[in-house]
Amino acid sequence: MSVNVKQLAAEKAVEYVQDGMKVGLGTGSTAYWAIRKLGERVREGLNITAVATSQASEDQARELGIPLVAFGEIDHLDLTIDGADELDSRLQLIKGGGGALLREKIVAMGSTRMIVVADESKAVNTLGKFPLPVEIVPFAWEWTVAKLEKLGCRPELRRSGDKLYRTDNGNYIADCHFGAIASAPVLAEQLQGISGVVDHGLFIGIASMAIIGKQDGSIEIIE
Ligand code: A5P
Repeated sequence: MSVNVKQLAAEKAVEYVQDGMKVGLGTGSTAYWAIRKLGERVREGLNITAVATSQASEDQARELGIPLVAFGEIDHLDLTIDGADELDSRLQLIKGGGGALLREKIVAMGSTRMIVVADESKAVNTLGKFPLPVEIVPFAWEWTVAKLEKLGCRPELRRSGDKLYRTDNGNYIADCHFGAIASAPVLAEQLQGISGVVDHGLFIGIASMAIIGKQDGSIEIIE
């Protein structure tokens, strides 16, 4: 029987959740397993409060009976568990493949600790093979995309069927094909300097641990 590596990593991360914690719930197919396990533990009596990073995660948590609050209503989170599209050995991440990067970043940065859960295919030496999602405002998007291009990438506006994709915040996503990113911190700074950019999927200095599930059933921890 083949191992569900996403479930393996996600369930390991849930072991770090303790009674009374305020927990950030990530988004995506790996975070899904973490939320599912948390639901099980809540049914068994675990007392936590959670904040979701997307409508999809909120709906899943609600269905499982995990108590939810709006992030604005609490002062901090103890732990956020979330997936990644790519991660390197310095715990630098690319996130946003699912389109929830802005809320994910706000929640992760408001957490004392962020644990990344991923399967081994996400671990890379150099970030950038996965196109970097950049959330941009719809106003003058053509102008913003041209600025992105000048940073050396091929930006592609994300679509959903025959329409442009909209994030939960009503913005567009430009998936930027950079190839190998020489310095993620430098690129992050350049992206922040473009006024039409709301945020981007580079998470630098935010994650404190990564739990990577492997096909042979083992787990690698980076911290
Ligand atoms: C959502 O916006 C993303 O940041 C996800 O966390 C990321 O794409 C990982 O998703 P999977 O676990 O589905 O690969």
